[in-house]
Amino acid sequence: MKRVLSGIQPSGQLTLGNYIGALRNYVLLQEEHDCFFMVVDLHAITVPQEPAALKEQTESVTALFLASGLDPTKSNIFLQSHVRAHAELGWLLTTLTYMGELERMTQFKDKSSGKESIGAGLFTYPSLMAADILLYGTNLVPVGDDQKQHLELTRDLANRFNQRFGETFPIPEPFIPKVGARIMSLDDASKKMSKSNPNAGSYIAMLDGPDVIRKKLSRSVTDSGREVKYDLAAKPEISNLMSIYASCSDLSIQQIEARYEGQGYGPFKKDLAEAVVATLEPIQQRYRDIRSSGELEAALRSGAEQASAIADKTLREVKARMGFVLP
Ligand code: AMP
Ligand code: TRP
Repeated sequence: MKRVLSGIQPSGQLTLGNYIGALRNYVLLQEEHDCFFMVVDLHAITVPQEPAALKEQTESVTALFLASGLDPTKSNIFLQSHVRAHAELGWLLTTLTYMGELERMTQFKDKSSGKESIGAGLFTYPSLMAADILLYGTNLVPVGDDQKQHLELTRDLANRFNQRFGETFPIPEPFIPKVGARIMSLDDASKKMSKSNPNAGSYIAMLDGPDVIRKKLSRSVTDSGREVKYDLAAKPEISNLMSIYASCSDLSIQQIEARYEGQGYGPFKKDLAEAVVATLEPIQQRYRDIRSSGELEAALRSGAEQASAIADKTLREVKARMGFVLP
């Protein structure tokens, strides 16, 4: 059985893109693999977070993990900050990471460009991410394209450690799930749908109510034509909406094309909205139940215990190999 690990930052509201591209795949993965899914709150603070908002978002994202179908009896679900070994191995790996490697990271360049003061944690972010992954002897890391460079650095650090201090870490592989299109922004099909976009009309949040979803989709940008046809180069906006529709229904792209032939965008957008509402409504119902019960706290407590047992063992081995005097 392969070990799978991934993390999502609690830095805003999760979107339909997170659900289709990440959470839904995690739910499938937990049936076949030994899975670790965490909310990476230590990573979230690499950019300023308002404390009350961080707390609310962390609880909300974790509750959405559970509401989407992640099952604490099948997967290890936990908060990064609940397992102290992350911060500690993060530091140890920071000392093995070269400045030049961190300077090349495109996420750092993007997030720091134009900013006056940049926290050092934003720079060393990838070393902490490597620690997240290596602590559990992870084999597969389901992530989007934008994280591949971080994963490559994780692999380099694992190899470097193994060469210097002896074989310790398996080398993790990125895992790009079979299902899970890249969902693009509703106002600009060249950008991915993202919780950090300041324009809330550009994304559908997993917690948006039915009317908000209908409104956002009816206002979503399209070309001036009227043909519901999948063509990423010529019709990126409609193609994106079709991917969303296919992901939220049992229709294929071809079936969607056939169904709306000659009808223009109106009826297509209306049905699309209903498909998205039907996908998110049961999750939202479960979310409300989870937040009003003690389920979240119990799941996090047992998740942290299980994860800590494994992580502490790895950390001890790492420290012994590096020459620390063990307590
Ligand atoms: P992020 O929200 O960028 O921190 O990403 C968390 C996870 O959700 C990663 O695995 C991403 O690949 C996935 N994800 C985020 N946005 C999208 C999107 N628009 N389409 C597909 N997957 C996404
Ligand atoms: N950097 C990832 C992102 O922004 C989040 C993350 C942190 C992560 N630690 C991880 C993803 C470990 C996979 C594995 O999406």
